[in-house]
Order: sequence, then structure tokens, then C-alpha cells
Amino acid sequence: MRALVWHGKEDIRCDTVTDPEIEDPRDAIIKVTSCAICGSDLHLFHNFIPAMMPGDIMGHEMMGEVVETGSGMNGKLKKGDRIVVPFTIQCGECDQCRRGNFSVCERSNRNKALADKAFGHATAGLFGYTHLTGGYPGGQAEYLRVPFADSTHIKVPDSLSDEQALFLGDIFPTGWQAAVHCDIEPTDTVVIWGCGPVGQMAIRSAVLLGAKLVVAIDCVPERLSMAQAGGALTIDFSAESVVERLNDLTDGKGPEKCIDAVGLESHVSVSQPDTVLDRAKQMMMMENDRPHVLREMIYVCRPGGIISIPGVYSGLVDKIPMGQAMNKGLTFRMGQTHVNRWTPDLVRRIEEGQIDPSFVITHTATLEEGPEMYNVFRNKQDSCIKVVLKP
Ligand SMILES: NC(=O)c1ccc[n+]([C@@H]2O[C@H](COP(=O)([O-])OP(=O)(O)OC[C@H]3O[C@@H](n4cnc5c(N)ncnc54)[C@H](O)[C@@H]3O)[C@@H](O)[C@H]2O)c1
Ligand SMILES: [Zn+2]
Ligand SMILES: [Zn+2]
Repeated sequence: MRALVWHGKEDIRCDTVTDPEIEDPRDAIIKVTSCAICGSDLHLFHNFIPAMMPGDIMGHEMMGEVVETGSGMNGKLKKGDRIVVPFTIQCGECDQCRRGNFSVCERSNRNKALADKAFGHATAGLFGYTHLTGGYPGGQAEYLRVPFADSTHIKVPDSLSDEQALFLGDIFPTGWQAAVHCDIEPTDTVVIWGCGPVGQMAIRSAVLLGAKLVVAIDCVPERLSMAQAGGALTIDFSAESVVERLNDLTDGKGPEKCIDAVGLESHVSVSQPDTVLDRAKQMMMMENDRPHVLREMIYVCRPGGIISIPGVYSGLVDKIPMGQAMNKGLTFRMGQTHVNRWTPDLVRRIEEGQIDPSFVITHTATLEEGPEMYNVFRNKQDSCIKVVLKP
């Protein structure tokens, strides 16, 4: 089959690889009908996430038709079913899965020993990601093997198109979880740093959850426009002071709830000297990530507020003002998304027309065009916000 394969930094190719096969009774194979490129794929593209290996198949946002199943489906999945595959592989049975903590499933990471060493305790297996999360082949491919498929799937109602359903596997529940983690009250100002696809979903989620005011921050004009269309007031951080503006908007008190939808690749800009220092340290391997947004959120957040972090961090970050955070009594919530915890509710909301996640798609291309689309998405060329690939 054809698949997008990681060969090293900024080197993704469309290669011919071996077709996946059933390896376990709980496996299923899907024929991928749609898949997407995620901001998390860019961290791999830039080689910021450790333990990738040349030959790894990319992709963790995908859907398709079940073409083969193992013998252990217990009636939960069958040939011909149309499913979205959550990026977090879940056994559905361990202590964590029973609590709905699917992204920290205790059984799905097949590289448990390696992950125990790196993180203290292994987390779930993820598709198309580092070998620390199992090194499972991803779904930017014609076919995908889905381990624990009887549990690791979201059935798609016929009424929904691929475009409406695809993001149930990642960015929609990710933006939603980030907003839910804010315990939004009708009096709250919720601020979202980053208007990429995840930020866009977080904006609409915060609006649906009833925030008084939603503010979104970025520097890319078309992303700011899309944020406005979703109901946010916007701040262009390249043109004005984020801290001053947020204090102005909240009578000097600061926003109650802050969401980091940027993660480890905060823009480097001379107007934010800490980002230049982070970049230098990153190049000297003295720091993994550029946590400018975390510092800004902690500084501006109202005392007693919540910091919600869907943005991915890979390792060690420097100069996080724990003194400010501790004394202001801030609550931190974060994590890879527990996708299936949220999706029954989100499927319903799409069906009822409360939201149509396809609004975020700006580009549709073939799998063969995938390597080029990584560059288009990364460079925000041609006003690109979200790419869908059709294998
Ligand atoms: N927690 C999860 O399960 C999960 C799932 C999906 C994605 N993610 C993560 O969410 C993050 C966003 O993903 P995406 O697909 O939207 O990526 P993206 O790269 O398209 O979006 C990031 C946006 O942040 C903006 N930005 C950069 N520096 C900024 C700053 N200082 N202030 C405000 N905005 C700034 C960029 O201009 C860009 O528009 C990534 O870190 C990704 O890895 C996490
Ligand atoms: Zn993702
Ligand atoms: Zn589990």
C-alpha cells in the first residue's frame, strides 16, 4: 500500500510499504477514506519528539471502512462498519479505561518498559507517534491496523459526511476537553492562545459551554478571522501586548480561564525575548520546548484561575514561574485527549447541528500530495489551516 513515511527531520515521503495484517484477535483493518495532518505531526516533522524511527508511518487522525476483523470483536465491530479511529489506543478494560482515562490506558502501549523509564509510568499507545507511545503505524495510509479495535473506534452515523466526522478522532474532542477542563461559568472570560485547528475547536467549545467572553490569540490573519467567525474577540500578539489587552478586557483582573493551544513550538520573536533564549537553548539541547505561552498564561491569569493545556510539550521546559503559579493558586489541567470520553456527546452535537467541525478544512489533497501538504500546513502557505488527505 501507499503511506506517508517519516525518514527524519522535515523528510516525509509517500512510499510503498507492506500492507497491515491482523496480528491479534482484537485487531481490525480499515481502508482509510479520509485522514488529516495535525499540529502534533508538525512536532514529529521538526523532530522535536524523541524516539521516532525512519520508516515509521505517520498519521493519527483518520477514518474509514472496516475491511477485516480478528475473531475477538464480541459483536462490537464488523466488516463494512464506517468508523473514526481515536488517536489514543484503548483496551477498554484496564483501571484507567474504566475511569475514562483512555489516553493513559495501561495496556495499549506495547513499549511499556521504554515508556515506564521515560515517563515514570507508561501512557497509552498512540497511532503514528513516537516509540515511547508504542510506535504504532499511523493512518496517513491506504490501510490501517487498529489494535483493540472492539474498543478503539467511534461508529459514524450515515447522516454525517467524512468531513463532518473525521475530527472526532482528535482535534474536536481535544478542543472540547480543553474547554471542559476550564469548568466554564457563565461569568468567565476564556482565553485561547493559538488559533490553529485545535484552538479553533477550543473556541467553539468554550462558546458552546457558555463562556461570557472568548478571546483568541495568534498572529496569522486568516486564523484570527476564523476565530472571530467562531465567536471570539481576537488579539494579534505581533501587533499588541497580550497582557495589557487581557487586563483591559477584564477590568485589570485577568481572565479566569486560559487555554494553551500552542504547545512546544511557540513562535520565536524579538518582541518576546524569552522565545529567542528558548530557541537558543533548544538548539544547544539545553531545553526541549519553547514554553512562552505557559509563562504568559501564568502571569496574566486571574488568581484562583485555571490553566488548561492541550498543547503538546515533549520534555524539559525552563523558567516556568512556579512562584507566581503557586501564590496565585492556579489549577493546571492537561494531557493527551481521552477521545472516547467525549465522543458520544460530540457525535450528538454534530448530528443536532450545534457544530459542524468541517468549517476548519481549507485544503483537500491526495495521499501522494501529502509530503508537499506538510510544508503547506507548516508554512501556513495559501492560508492553510487544516489539510484533509484522501488516500
Ligand atoms: N492534547 C492533545 O491530545 C492534542 C491533540 C491534538 C493536538 N495537540 C497539540 O495542540 C497544539 C496545536 O495544534 P494545532 O493543530 O492547532 O497546531 P498549529 O501548529 O496549526 O497551531 C498552532 C498555532 O499557534 C500559534 N502560535 C504560535 N505561537 C503563539 C503565541 N506565542 N501566542 C499565540 N499563538 C501562537 C501559531 O501561529 C499557530 O496558528 C499542538 O501543540 C498539538 O501538538 C494536542
Ligand atoms: Zn493530533
Ligand atoms: Zn486500557
